[in-house]
Amino acid sequence: MGWKKPYCKPRYASSNSHKLYYCRTSLTILTLALLFGSAVYVFTPETRFWEPGFLHHEARYRGDLRDLNSPWNKLCFGPTSEKLKIAVFSKSWPTGPSPGGMERHASTLYSALASRGHKIHVFTAPSDRQQRSEVKEGNLSVHFAANDHGSVNFSLAYEMFLQENGSGDFDYVHTESVSLPYWRAKMLPKVAVTWHGIWYEIMHSKLFQELLANPNGLFPGPTTELQEAMPRLLDEIRFFSSYSQHICISNSAGEVLRNIYQLPQRNVHVILNGVDEKNFVFDPEAGLRFRKKHGVPSNVSLVMGVAGRLVRDKGHPLLYEAFSSIAKQHPGVFLLVAGSGPWSKRYSELGPNVRVLGALEPYELSDFYNALDLFINPTLRPQGLDLTLIEAMHCGKPVLTTNFPSITGTVVLSGEYGYTFSPNVGSLVEALNLAIRDGLKSLQEKGMFCRKHVLSMFTASKMALAYERFFLCMKNSKYCQYPLPTDC
Ligand SMILES: *[C@@H]1O[C@H](CO)[C@@H](O)[C@H](O)[C@H]1NC(C)=O
Ligand SMILES: *[C@@H]1O[C@H](CO)[C@@H](O)[C@H](O)[C@H]1NC(C)=O
Ligand SMILES: *[C@@H]1O[C@H](CO)[C@@H](O)[C@H](O)[C@H]1NC(C)=O
Ligand SMILES: *[C@@H]1O[C@H](CO)[C@@H](O)[C@H](O)[C@H]1NC(C)=O
Repeated sequence: MGWKKPYCKPRYASSNSHKLYYCRTSLTILTLALLFGSAVYVFTPETRFWEPGFLHHEARYRGDLRDLNSPWNKLCFGPTSEKLKIAVFSKSWPTGPSPGGMERHASTLYSALASRGHKIHVFTAPSDRQQRSEVKEGNLSVHFAANDHGSVNFSLAYEMFLQENGSGDFDYVHTESVSLPYWRAKMLPKVAVTWHGIWYEIMHSKLFQELLANPNGLFPGPTTELQEAMPRLLDEIRFFSSYSQHICISNSAGEVLRNIYQLPQRNVHVILNGVDEKNFVFDPEAGLRFRKKHGVPSNVSLVMGVAGRLVRDKGHPLLYEAFSSIAKQHPGVFLLVAGSGPWSKRYSELGPNVRVLGALEPYELSDFYNALDLFINPTLRPQGLDLTLIEAMHCGKPVLTTNFPSITGTVVLSGEYGYTFSPNVGSLVEALNLAIRDGLKSLQEKGMFCRKHVLSMFTASKMALAYERFFLCMKNSKYCQYPLPTDC
């Protein structure tokens, strides 16, 4: 382990002999923690038993949900008759065409909760930045509180919240990241925040980006971005405790919040983001049609694909270089590139083994994933809502991706789901070679394994049920018991 013991004192030793060390917050220690980040992520036995092989009649979680360190999504929650009134603060709400991941997530989640009979009031701004009036659909009300530039006016949003609270008080308040600023959250006793990315993870990725951009450490030295990251991280650790309850979207972020940010165990929960399983299905025929339509030669031996914005921090310089070398050794390997951005032109110059498709419409995405034998996500940013891995897995595809703790601790748990690599060209080439050597049959088996895994964890309905139970538990602790007689 790279974790230096002399700086740390044992916090507790659990019965199963995992020792965690509590360290005083100092720049040195945080740097060490970051450098040896993976050593900090201690796997609890629970992490393992959430694998797809786990069946209900095996060890089933029993106890208080607030003590659970693994995703709530995995549990099977039954119906409840109690209905809640929930306030939501979100930076934006999808209104125009092609909304971003964050907006789609918010709309999926709150529409699902509203359709389950809860009164949901969202205080937000429209994603297209146009002037809009309130939206009311059944039990979902969306209140727009935008300033002149179209972003949220926090004061106005809060005023609207107080006004709505006046006509029937809220059971609980939920904020997507800092959409409800911490100085306001501090005043409210019943607030939960969902973190979609934390500075500890951002720091981790900035470190990799710096090493890639400047491998020899010569002039001009670390970017200001990297230098600015540490103060941001410290600031974040200081203000996070203003929020009472924390929801993370990966196991590793939960561990960081407990172990590095030092938040109370019982106030940190993991609820994974889900994608709408109806939109991403396993459909080999649609995949074949997609290949034909886009001119993928029928004699290729393996089709790989990548999707998203074709920019530097999504790892395209790495994939570009790695694939150029792979294509020379394996002329039958083909690469489909979906998305647009500065790297699009370079990919299209790579030769006959690469096809650049441009940005795809949302309805084409499932077919695109189905056309692949392997989905690649070379991202250098572990934080945020990069749901493409989950979408590809819903379509029954194995994945090849960066070995960030947020990915290896929650999504690609082992080699049975695909391949992971360290963010450098050599490691990526090695992983690609391994996948090619394993061959189509093995990739298909891994793909089915992936599909089973994401269906058990990463669906929109599992996410909504987990949040529903979370808010019920926060309102009335009787709902924190698991399982209840009504649970499945
Ligand atoms: C709104 O919630 C109530 C229960 O609180 C439910 O009876 C009703 O069907 C819901 N309306 C819609 C449109 O979902
Ligand atoms: C934000 O809302 C407050 C309260 O309604 C208002 O006084 C203020 O001028 C608004 N600020 C901007 C930038 O729109
Ligand atoms: C919301 O309303 C309830 C009941 O009227 C009140 O007790 C509570 O303080 C209000 N919340 C805020 C933040 O003002
Ligand atoms: C596939 O067929 C084309 C045209 O017949 C040929 O030029 C190409 O070399 C073949 N590729 C492979 C990998 O066999």
